[in-house]
Amino acid sequence: MSSRIPKFGRMKIEQRRKIIQESAGLDDAEMALLLEGGFSPLEADLMVEGVIGLHALPLGIATNFIVNGRDVLVPMAVEEPSVIAAASNAARMIRQGGGFSAEADESIMAVQVELQDPGPDAAGKIQNEKDRLLTLADEAQPELKSLGGGARDIEIRKTEASGNRLIVHIYVDCLDAMGANAVNTIGEALAPELAALADARAGLKILTNLADRRLVRINARVKFESLERRSSGCSFSGADVARRVVEASDFALADPYRAATHNKGIMNGVDAVIMATGNDWRAVEAGAHSYAAAGGTYGPLSTWSIEEDGILCGSLEMPMAIGIVGGAARIHRGAAAARKIMNIKSARELACIIGSAGLASNLAALAALGSEGIQAGHMGLHARSVAMSAGAVGDQIDAVASRMCSSGPVTVPRAKEILSEMHSKNESEK
Ligand code: MEV
Repeated sequence: MSSRIPKFGRMKIEQRRKIIQESAGLDDAEMALLLEGGFSPLEADLMVEGVIGLHALPLGIATNFIVNGRDVLVPMAVEEPSVIAAASNAARMIRQGGGFSAEADESIMAVQVELQDPGPDAAGKIQNEKDRLLTLADEAQPELKSLGGGARDIEIRKTEASGNRLIVHIYVDCLDAMGANAVNTIGEALAPELAALADARAGLKILTNLADRRLVRINARVKFESLERRSSGCSFSGADVARRVVEASDFALADPYRAATHNKGIMNGVDAVIMATGNDWRAVEAGAHSYAAAGGTYGPLSTWSIEEDGILCGSLEMPMAIGIVGGAARIHRGAAAARKIMNIKSARELACIIGSAGLASNLAALAALGSEGIQAGHMGLHARSVAMSAGAVGDQIDAVASRMCSSGPVTVPRAKEILSEMHSKNESEK
């Protein structure tokens, strides 16, 4: 089924649900579950401590995505208005140029074992025992090994800044798991052996979230004509928008303050899919920002350029430590339904979709910022929630929102005023 569903955002919830149910083959129980937040208080109680309830977020579907030649509907859980519409809109522009091309590294995570006050030639002694240490690591996670994953490499790091400590990285292919538990177990299992070899005290044993051997790389080509924008009062040619997107990308390269916001725009898309699929967004955030600063200065995770006439090219590279098995992904049935909607079979495939959502969100932001700005679109959606806070229901919501947008301000008192005018008009017409 095509992910291009014109006017999906304007449909009623029931109509959207019907389309998604049919396209993903979800049963009625799964659809009901999505209305309830994807899991029960009992399941929540198994996940964390001190549970007293559930905390819900809107779950929407971003349309128009083609990733590596495959149409995919992208579930997004997010509280910010415009994120899903903007990602769908940018994905539509990108699909006209063939969609996203994406690749994800193998699911390599590293656990760090800190060795304090090592004896002479500690690094050499560990290096000499590398094969035995890798076998020991696999013995700590036999199931992972039996599935084809497991320990791949050991690296010893010593920098000027690391002082009197040696840092050992054990790299593990975690296959379809995010892998935090697997690598932390391996780190704890190997620490005594490493400390003995190095004649050192074992300090911390914990994964690094700077998952720089687990990168995702996304590329997109956008035809200038797809970038053309017309909104009330202003219009921008595709070439103009392309030029402004490139200027915005250069700005992010030149200034860490701008790079932070540029990357926030990327994380709008990334985090929303991570949340919908029950993944650890703090881990991915930590990886993203440490990777963005890995060169010594904080920079953008994506860049845009015009490399051939009439085509805007975007590329994004960032760590993507996510999984489709284990952790919350196992308990959260809503996350399982989200994976079914995308029809994904592996963590690497999911990483490619998440990265594509990030690049789409980034393009949407830069194209809007470089043309009419983001407030016009944003305020339209914001006005709907203001209308609801003022007590508007059903069709009143859009009616009140649209009147506030055309004759501001967008505030709860103004929405109440419009509502009471509507009530009086209705009364007088009776
Ligand atoms: C808002 O959530 C995200 C933006 O600030 C991103 C950007 O400035 O590139 C619009």
